[in-house]
Amino acid sequence: MTSQTLREARKYEEASEKLIKPEKRPDFHLSARTGWMNDPNGFSWYQGKYHMFYQYHPYDSHWGPMHWGHAVSTDLLHWEYLPAALAPDASYDKDGCFSGSAVELADGRHLLMYTGVVQERLKNGELRELQTQCLAVGDGIDYEKYENNPVLDEKDLPQGFSRYDFRDPKILKNADGSYSCIIGNRPADGSGQILLFTSADGFQWKYQKVLCTNNRRFGLMWECPDFFELDGKHVLLTSPQDMMPQGFEYHNGNGTLCLIGTYDEKTATFTEESGQSIDYGIDFYAPQTVLSPDGRRIMIGWMQNWDTCNLRTSEHPLWYGQMSLPRELHIKNGRLYQQPIRELEQMRGSKTLYQNVPVTGFLQLEGIRGRLVDLTIVIRPAQGERSYRKFAVRFAQNETYYTSLSFRPEESILKIDRKYSGSRRAIIHQRRSLVNHTDGCLRLRLILDRYSVEVFVNDGEQVMTATMYTEQSADGISFFADGAVCMDVVKYDLISNGF
Ligand code: FRU
Repeated sequence: MTSQTLREARKYEEASEKLIKPEKRPDFHLSARTGWMNDPNGFSWYQGKYHMFYQYHPYDSHWGPMHWGHAVSTDLLHWEYLPAALAPDASYDKDGCFSGSAVELADGRHLLMYTGVVQERLKNGELRELQTQCLAVGDGIDYEKYENNPVLDEKDLPQGFSRYDFRDPKILKNADGSYSCIIGNRPADGSGQILLFTSADGFQWKYQKVLCTNNRRFGLMWECPDFFELDGKHVLLTSPQDMMPQGFEYHNGNGTLCLIGTYDEKTATFTEESGQSIDYGIDFYAPQTVLSPDGRRIMIGWMQNWDTCNLRTSEHPLWYGQMSLPRELHIKNGRLYQQPIRELEQMRGSKTLYQNVPVTGFLQLEGIRGRLVDLTIVIRPAQGERSYRKFAVRFAQNETYYTSLSFRPEESILKIDRKYSGSRRAIIHQRRSLVNHTDGCLRLRLILDRYSVEVFVNDGEQVMTATMYTEQSADGISFFADGAVCMDVVKYDLISNGF
């Protein structure tokens, strides 16, 4: 039975969505139907469609009591909104239905597992959130909360494990038909850890062990874990809070972490081999993956950073928050590689190609402009290794605005800078990343949607993501070199989803 709270949310979102012009939202990135969006939730393939749920506060463009928004797609680029799936309407989740995941049960029903939040006043007056794990079962549109919720609470946790930081269950289907689930938690040292639980039927759960311990190496609490096999390795993704930078890694405060290693299923032991940031830009958090029917591991993150949520304009009063592009994942040379989902190529319209273009100083090229663009730039020194000191590409540009990507080969540093994107706030606007290049040769693929840029470096070896709310008339693209660069450019206009 749909509760009054959910019915109201569904009615509200349907009416409010109509007040948002489609061209005032991202074109092929999923954005909040109305109000606020954060983490991707329940990313799954179910009954012939990809389902994406999300942390959702329909009534305001700021975070508030969490609902689950819902959208479906067959190509992860054209999205159709469905009615909100969950509202905070039960005693065990009255202060929020936090992040979680989804899986198809053997009987064909769709199982959602999420964190129920109830606020608790401590003796010292402090307000804490008690977090438990809950279930809802549905048909892809309507979901019924499970009568025995919560299915995991503090009673299931070993002594000393936090009951306040116990969230974001990701269900995994095992080969024998049983289920596992990993959940973020905090041990007594205040750091983060990922716990592993098991279940025969998806409803009755028991604690198994700690899958991975942070020991204060990567931030503190670990949020939104995911765990999967990829190219012969096992990958643990998580979003640690309160990270400290290490060299050019982990600059995002609440950032992202990818641990690559091996997994012994018999003993449920994950052995770490290496760690890295998932995204090296500004706006990327809490990613979740799905296995596509054709076996691809696809990841989508919240294209935002908790510390930069004030990068917004009065032009968009009714929605805030977008998802990243879906990215296909691989492991190469012990690192996580990400490529834009190949379905994006079907959105390619007219092509403009330039080869061996000399760049010295500023340069504009006929036909290279736009805000819905798939742009690949390959640069190399024009005359020998040290023939340039800096290369830059500016986009979302007019007389007043631009965002830029600049590369200094001597330092091997690629920088994204949205200082002049129209922001009126003193928040982080630039990020520098160390990138690999051979003698000043570098390959960049930029995907521009209306309010974002995602830069895939060296065929996905690194990605830098940033949102920007520059007015759409700023659609110029230009190039710059201090020294002599030789450049190839391929630009495709991306065909808008019909707006
Ligand atoms: C991560 C997060 C999750 C939590 C959700 C609440 O961004 O803090 O840990 O479930 O957001 O909206």
